[in-house]
Amino acid sequence: KKHQYILAIETSCDETAVAIIKDGKEIVANVVASQIESHKRFGGVVPEIASRHHVEEITFVLEEALKQAEMTVEEMDAITVTEGPGLVGALLIGVNAAKALAFAHDKPLIGVHHIAGHIYANRLVKEFSFPLLALVVSGGHTELILMREHGKFEVIGETRDDAAGEAYDKVARTLGLSYPGGPQIDKLAAQGNETIDLPRAWLEEGSYDFSFSGLKSAVINTIHNATQRGEELKKEDLAASFQASVVEVLTEKTYQAAKEFDVKQVIVAGGVAANKGLREKLQEKFMSESIDLAIPPLSLCTDNAAMIGAAGSIAYDQGHRAGWDLNANPGLDL
Ligand code: KG4
Ligand code: ZN
Repeated sequence: KKHQYILAIETSCDETAVAIIKDGKEIVANVVASQIESHKRFGGVVPEIASRHHVEEITFVLEEALKQAEMTVEEMDAITVTEGPGLVGALLIGVNAAKALAFAHDKPLIGVHHIAGHIYANRLVKEFSFPLLALVVSGGHTELILMREHGKFEVIGETRDDAAGEAYDKVARTLGLSYPGGPQIDKLAAQGNETIDLPRAWLEEGSYDFSFSGLKSAVINTIHNATQRGEELKKEDLAASFQASVVEVLTEKTYQAAKEFDVKQVIVAGGVAANKGLREKLQEKFMSESIDLAIPPLSLCTDNAAMIGAAGSIAYDQGHRAGWDLNANPGLDL
């Protein structure tokens, strides 16, 4: 049987990425050019700078991916690209690069949802078992998604304000840490103790929605109050207390939903899935369950194009094709 090769492009935020995926699950090439250094001094991603970097990088990243794979665009079955959600100017670069390639080489073009990509990152490691529940936690998203089959997504819970990663980054900034703050808080938390009482946003009974802005404000108020009293709180303890609140709510809601929908597998995806505290707590919670807990390796948790290729492969098999009017869609629904 002939193999399927998908060329995937991802430029939704601050990584310019191109990958080549074989048969939907095997990484042949995976190149990610990060812009983090350029955004660091601004304390977050600056959309205009992100777009400019993507323009500069995309051709080189594409060439590097083809070189890694020792393949040509001609050998690809389809070109897939993140069409949304994300920063519109950033998405546009990837979408137009994909359209140009597909048009020039007469290949099918497929638009992929960024979150579908994060979930499908797992398929590069392990086959899916349906029904499955995906906890997607990133800088822009916090969602619980139920999947009963390939390519179909039911959002059963989502954040009502800040995304989990966003809360991490904002708290980190208050603590004087550089962007992105998530990994640094994670490290500090491991060295501290949960000495500060912070709220847990459970919301209404039975709700799978999340809220992190109250917690974020509580951390900021705690710091201000301590400063006014002339006390100094240990950063490690603040980080440990904050992380404990985030991790407890994420783990508990994921567990409740997994039980209610009687899923076979729980997938954790997105940048915050790299969090050590979250990984440990989930492993502990699901250890004695017959539910398979799948968390991708760190390199596949943060933004990359391999995950877009994995999701794009299924979309291709299911017959999805985009027209030449494919456009960046910053608010795309799953
Ligand atoms: O998925 P991702 O790379 O980009 C988005 O689509 O948003 O996620 C980036 C987010 C950032 O907010 C970053 O601080 C957070 O993931 N993050 C972490 C950790 N590693 C990355 N948050 C907590 N703990 C970590 N170890
Ligand atoms: Zn992402």
